[in-house]
Order: sequence, then C-alpha cells, then structure tokens
Amino acid sequence: MFTAKKVFIQCLFTIVMLGGVMEVHALVRSFKFELINSLHTRLCCNKTMLTINGQSPGPTIYARRGDLVIVDIVNRADQNITIHWHGVKMPRYPWSDGTNFVTQCPILSGKRFRQRVILSDEEGTLWWHAHNDWSRNSVYGAIVILPPKGETYPFPKPHAHHPILIGEWWKADVQQVMEEFLKNGGDPQMSNAYLINGQPGDLYQCSTQDIYKLQVEFGKTYLIKLVNAVMDNIMFFKIGSHKFTVVGTDGAYTKPMQTDCVAISPGQTIDLLLEANQPPSHYYMAARVYASGGDFVTIPTTAIIEYVGNYTPPPSPLLPFFPQVNDSATSMNFTNQLRSLVNGVNVPKKVTRKLFFTLSMNRRLCLESYCLRATRLASSVNNVSMLLPGVDILQAYYRGISGVYTTDFPDFPPSAFDYTKDAMLEESSATRLGTAVSVLEYNSTVEVVFQGTNIAGGVEHPMHLHGYSFYVVGSGLGNFDGIRDPPNYNLIDPPLMENIVVPRNGWISIRFKANNPGVWYMHCHFERHQSWGMKMVFIVEDGEQPHEKMLPPPPDMPGCDAPPPQLLFRI
Ligand code: C2O
Ligand code: CU
Repeated sequence: MFTAKKVFIQCLFTIVMLGGVMEVHALVRSFKFELINSLHTRLCCNKTMLTINGQSPGPTIYARRGDLVIVDIVNRADQNITIHWHGVKMPRYPWSDGTNFVTQCPILSGKRFRQRVILSDEEGTLWWHAHNDWSRNSVYGAIVILPPKGETYPFPKPHAHHPILIGEWWKADVQQVMEEFLKNGGDPQMSNAYLINGQPGDLYQCSTQDIYKLQVEFGKTYLIKLVNAVMDNIMFFKIGSHKFTVVGTDGAYTKPMQTDCVAISPGQTIDLLLEANQPPSHYYMAARVYASGGDFVTIPTTAIIEYVGNYTPPPSPLLPFFPQVNDSATSMNFTNQLRSLVNGVNVPKKVTRKLFFTLSMNRRLCLESYCLRATRLASSVNNVSMLLPGVDILQAYYRGISGVYTTDFPDFPPSAFDYTKDAMLEESSATRLGTAVSVLEYNSTVEVVFQGTNIAGGVEHPMHLHGYSFYVVGSGLGNFDGIRDPPNYNLIDPPLMENIVVPRNGWISIRFKANNPGVWYMHCHFERHQSWGMKMVFIVEDGEQPHEKMLPPPPDMPGCDAPPPQLLFRI
C-alpha cells in the first residue's frame, strides 16, 4: 500500500506556458504520499524520523515535460508538514508550491492536501522536499522529467538513468536539533554523516552491507541525476577513474561539459552522462563536503559502481582524490563554466526593475527574558531578517487580509558601504526583523544583483527562487561595480537555473521576466541561514489578460490553525 500508485489518464490539455501557449499531449500522473514516523538504522543507531511512505529518500516522481502530477499528501505523522516541488514553476498556481507560511499553512497531523504539480518547460531533474522546520532532512525525493513522447534528448539516448541523492544524517532527532539551535542563538549541532541514496557508505560505521550499488555494463552510457539534498553544504562529487559529461542543471539542459569533479549546491540538480569505459571492476562514486568555514564532517559518503561480468574486484575500490574541503576556486570554477545548451537564449536585454540585495550574516541583540545570550546570530537580505507570519502570505494577498506583511522590502541596502572589506564594522550589521515583500509588476524584466558581505565573516550563499528559472548573467569576487561589470555580462548563453551560489565575498547577477503571477519565496538554501532570516518574498502582480492572472485556490487548502513559528521558537 505504500508504493506510489500511478494512474495514467491519457488526455489532451492546453498548458499556458510562461510566455506563450503550447499544446502538448500530456499525462496526468497521480501519486500518494503518506507522511509517517518510521524507524531507521544508520551508523549503528536506531531512530524514528519523518518519511514519505517509509522511505528516505522518498519515492521518485517520473513524468514527461508538460505533465500534470497530482500528489495526495496524507499526514499520518505527529508533526506538521508542507511539501515543496523544488524547481517546478507552477505557472499561475502558487497554491501548490508548498512553502510554509508563504504559500500555505502547514498540513496538520491527521490532515491531507491534494497538490497539483504543474510541469511546464522543465526537463531533466528536479526534486521535492518538505518546506517547514528542518524536516526536509528526511522528507525528500527526486523528480525525473523526461522529454515528451516522440522527442529525444539533446544527446544520444542513455542506456538507463539513475537518481543519485546526496543527503545528510544526524543521530539526534533533527526537529530537536533545530529547536535547540533556535533557542540558543548560536551555531547548530553538526550532522554525523553524509549519504548517497540514504546510505553513508563503507567509510562510515555499519553501512558496508547496505551501501548503494549501481550496476553498469561496459560500453554503455548512463544518465546520472544528481541532487544535493544536504542541509548546509555545497558538495564535491566524483567517480573513481571516470570522467563524465555534465548535460543539465536545475531542469534545463546545458552545453556538454566534460569534467571529473562536480560542485553541487543544496537545492541544485545536475544531470551527467557516465560512460562505462573503464576496465570492469568496482569503482567508488563519492561526495565530500565543501565549506569555506565551519566544522563539518569531512569523511566522503560513498556508493559503488559495479561493472557486470567475470572479474575479481579489489577488496575496496580506490577513493577518488578530492579537492581540499575549502577549495573555493574549484567550487566556483565549476559553476562558472555552466552554459545554456543553445546560444541566443531569451534573456531580458532591457531591465525595468533593478534590485541590489546584500546577503549578510549578522549579530543582533537579544534582551528579552527568553534570550539565552545577549547577542544572537542572524542573517539577512538588505538588512531585513524575515519572520514568517501566522497566516500564509499568499492567502493574505489573495483575500486582502491586512496586517500579515508589509510591501516595503527595500530594492537596495539601507546604506552603501564597502561590502567585502576585511574588518567589518559591527554598525553595518544591524538587521531588522519583519515580514516585508517586494512587489513586481507583471512582465517587468528584473535584475537581481546578490552581493555577499563580510559582516561577521563572509560565506557562500546558495540562493534559490521559487516559481521561476533565471539566467545567471554575471558573477565576480569583491564588490559589484555597476559601471564596469554589466558590459561583461553573458547575454548569449547564460545558464538557466533556480539555484545559484553567491561566492564568498563576491556577487552574482541574475535576470528573469516576472511573467508568473503569484507569491514566490526566495531564500538561501543553507538551512541554518534560512532559519536565521535570509529569505524574502516576491509578489508578482496579475497581468491584464485572463491568462495572465493567478488561478483560484483549490477547495482543500490547509487552514491556518498552527501557532506562528516565531512565537514557538522566538527567532
Ligand atoms: Cu528547495 Cu524553498 O526550496
Ligand atoms: Cu546563506
């Protein structure tokens, strides 16, 4: 009863795509996701955790471009949940986006919610995950989107494809780790292991038996669908003795790029072709943490590529040689080389709304009686640390409920300063708590420059936008220069992404056309930064035409009966 039940109904329907109308033969595919507390053993210890259908990673959703996926979420666990379809644009339908207190209130224990996951132009790999508290740690899975029937890949058809999800394991209960972290206002307790498809692998205790194995035949090519589902780190990914070819990221194809090392940020997906062209044997597929600071587990998580055939495998495969844990050049260079598949992509050339967002780590005073220390860590966008409201912003916007949010999210930081200089004055670190949204006019062409700052020490920030893909047109180290940098933008073949790592003490420039009306969250995909407030919301207004307006909500939207998170956790 726990297997995802697929119901195929052949039908013809018209999808109003972002930017045009396209007729496709699309399918409706239905899945049932039951959230339960289930028992799992890793690193020689048992623990009960939240899963979908008892599995972590949860079920893979297979679909074709343009399909409609209907997922019935049934909450049979003792905690509230929301499920987000990471990278699915949901044209005009933010109601299914699944972002806690932004597009919906949580599905309470015992309740259910039917989500319509509306695929449009995405093709490749995306993923789904819980989007409340830190429950995405165990509640996540892959979404594999194949070309429509009769269409082919922009590369020779691979023999098979395999989702590979990099995850993370705490021996402790993750909800407790989060609550502890929010209470004490400092850094969280670190995790104990990283995982490939749910297993730490044979370099960790008690995982040799269950290590993930991928069987390959010599001479065949496999499409690996890599997802970084870890909570707080960019990961390096390598395969022993093999090179491979990156062909896509974030549900869009890229120009083929040969490499032997991937740097993948939390939230990001990478499609790569692996040719089984080495002497038949066992090889490691492994991922290791990249971090410019912090004290993270550095043991690689491993899986095994097993050639079929008759041979004597080595007692243990050779571990690929990884870059240094803090090798930011390798991490940055990988991302900088990504290019859209074709030249002359539809990137906005004229920008009608320019935004400049500083991303900062902050310290803020905490003088109330509940404060365990006088200064707490915080993080912010343009010196605003976002608080989630008690009623979701989408509902408040749609129904005109006042007092839930303000519309004064600043287009620029409150004052300009040398963002990346060495010793940063604490004055610039003042952050205000609030629920401020930025309103975008329908069809405006938006540029966001993300500027990393060195307040309280600079780190990377993998920024993620809901409801859109964006073109990454520029990047650099140091301070963005509005005169010198834009002439160097790539407006020919910039990669189309929904996650981009803003380099440590550097900047990134993205562009998109605001043609998907709704309420869309943007945040750092490092979970601890998100909890500290590095998040904001865009409201994209309706257009004039009926097909440019948000669709109405489904009848079973969850009610807002849970206490607002900031009251519970005092963030
Ligand atoms: Cu991967 Cu806001 O999500
Ligand atoms: Cu961040």
